[in-house]
Amino acid sequence: MKKIVIINGPNLNRLGKREPEIYGSETLKDLETYVTDVATTLSCQVEFRQSNHEGDIIDWIHEAEGVKDGIILNPGAFTHYSYAIRDAVASVTVPLIEVHVSNVHAREEFRHHSVIAPVATGQIVGLGFTGYELALCALMK
Ligand code: DQA
Repeated sequence: MKKIVIINGPNLNRLGKREPEIYGSETLKDLETYVTDVATTLSCQVEFRQSNHEGDIIDWIHEAEGVKDGIILNPGAFTHYSYAIRDAVASVTVPLIEVHVSNVHAREEFRHHSVIAPVATGQIVGLGFTGYELALCALMK
């Protein structure tokens, strides 16, 4: 059975309360329930992590090497400036898909650029929770 780790970065623990007009009214727990159901259908094992701290995210990316078959990462605002997370992604061979709930390209200028995308396997933006589902499907292929 393939093992996938889903890492959500800063402020994603606030889903459901945070700017609902942008991120929707569903919570991180709802996201985890949704993705767990998808994982059951796809017969894969998913583990969820969330942190507001850059170092935690870097450690979890490193720990996935040789242990997980894929990483789904929503780096939150770190997307736009964390060279440390980018280097962590580049340092492992595990396929990684960057996911964003909102359409970052339709928002403020600073959200248009991802320092992670060039070292990610792929990127999905603007599809809400469906983005995580599609990322899981892609990693299973
Ligand atoms: C986000 C987009 C980022 O720009 C923002 O800082 C987030 C959430 C998204 O999922 O749409 O925290 O990654």
